Amino acid sequence: MSLLRLCRVDEIADDALLRVAAAGTVYAVAKSGGEVFVLADQCTHGPGNLSEGAVLGTEVECPFHQGRFDLRTGQPTYPPCTEAVRTWTATVKAGEIFIDQDEPAKAG
Ligand code: FES
Repeated sequence: MSLLRLCRVDEIADDALLRVAAAGTVYAVAKSGGEVFVLADQCTHGPGNLSEGAVLGTEVECPFHQGRFDLRTGQPTYPPCTEAVRTWTATVKAGEIFIDQDEPAKAG
């Protein structure tokens, strides 16, 4: 396990996203209903950055073509997205958000 700190929970507004670059990867860290989710920032459909998108309940909407992904699984939920986006399990310790860099990608 290789824990990587991304940001503080209170740096993200409710139902919003934050772009975090750490250890050579860019993440979209989302907060929805008080829960934290971590996804790859790069949309699998094109050039959109999910951190610039919108949180809609348990989904994130890409700002580029308005495709959507499930925040929990990364699975596409609205076209034109068809390919899952990478997600990581968010661990919160003392108000800080971490992921395990060694977490395997979910099959999808
Ligand atoms: S680039 Fe994200 S929906 Fe097309």
